[in-house]
Amino acid sequence: MGTVILGIESSCDDTSAAVVRDRMLLSNVTAGQEVHRQYGGVVPELASRAHQQNIVPVVDQALKHAGILRSEIDAVAFTRGPGLLGSLLVGTSFTKGFTAGLGIPMIEVNHLQAHILVHFILSEQFENHSPNFPFLCLLVSGGHTQLVVVKDHHRMEIIGKSLDDAAGEAFDKCAKLLGLPYPGGPHVDRLALEGDPEKYTFNKPRLDGFDYSFSGLKTSFLYFLRDRIKEESDFIEMNRADLAASLQRTIVEILMNKLRIAAKKTDIQQIALAGGVSANSGLRAAIREEAVKNGWEVYIPPIGYSTDNAAMIAITGYFRYLKGEFASEDIAPLARMHF
Ligand code: KG4
Ligand code: ZN
Repeated sequence: MGTVILGIESSCDDTSAAVVRDRMLLSNVTAGQEVHRQYGGVVPELASRAHQQNIVPVVDQALKHAGILRSEIDAVAFTRGPGLLGSLLVGTSFTKGFTAGLGIPMIEVNHLQAHILVHFILSEQFENHSPNFPFLCLLVSGGHTQLVVVKDHHRMEIIGKSLDDAAGEAFDKCAKLLGLPYPGGPHVDRLALEGDPEKYTFNKPRLDGFDYSFSGLKTSFLYFLRDRIKEESDFIEMNRADLAASLQRTIVEILMNKLRIAAKKTDIQQIALAGGVSANSGLRAAIREEAVKNGWEVYIPPIGYSTDNAAMIAITGYFRYLKGEFASEDIAPLARMHF
């Protein structure tokens, strides 16, 4: 009958639960948290409170959608980190209680590895199309930007990373300067469709190797806006779409330059995107274009599976289950967690 894993994700501001039977996705339910919007960013205290309210109904719905009884679950996988400690605690504590009640094991999952392993989910949306090992993954989220060589489901090597802000942070911080709501990434993406990506030029970092930097772009964007507003007070309002398009082009170019070099140096042509920023239409288009030029085979998660979700936690849990990697009852969440 296969192995049934319930996945729980609560690392930031999405409470999510999902069920897989082996690699087959049976359900994925996510409750977002609108409460942070008015503050222009995630408020940790409010996030953990919302997780507490959402977790039981989200898990119930995920089981119901999957048509799975509690007695059929073999193990529960949960996000141990990295993330907000208070938020992670809700998922971890819930998992402890739930598994103790059923007498089944729990499995710790690294949120970043899970973003990458989302590509192994089998479902119609994924077109049942997974990368072969080794593949190179550009992991771009709100908190991390990493180039990862994925050797198998368990062994991954980070060959490059951002030395300061993550790509998602660059989108969100610059979006805030444009007066867009949090998180700004999707708003920039939407506005960019109507703007001229070549209209403005912003500083790009000059870093050797595979590492990234985005803090200079943010500063360059801030100073540029400040200077233009001095001359024309409604500069942002009059040029928002062109600013969004030019900003997006710059971020995508920075991401793609290192990815291109890394693919060449590692001689890997299986290329995957993961993390929230992989929902970006400019990045998706750029990687597809590059694939044609270089003979890459590219793997891009379906939109709902780029950003945080529990399906990726459940599939990662499944691979750990096969290796018998279970967590002990006294496991604690980790705000920082490496792999
Ligand atoms: O992976 P994720 O959901 O959460 C973290 O683990 O951080 O990523 C969230 C990030 C945010 O910075 C958000 O603005 C960005 O992903 N994002 C986007 C788009 N959709 C989400 N950035 C650019 N374009 C998008 N369409
Ligand atoms: Zn994430």
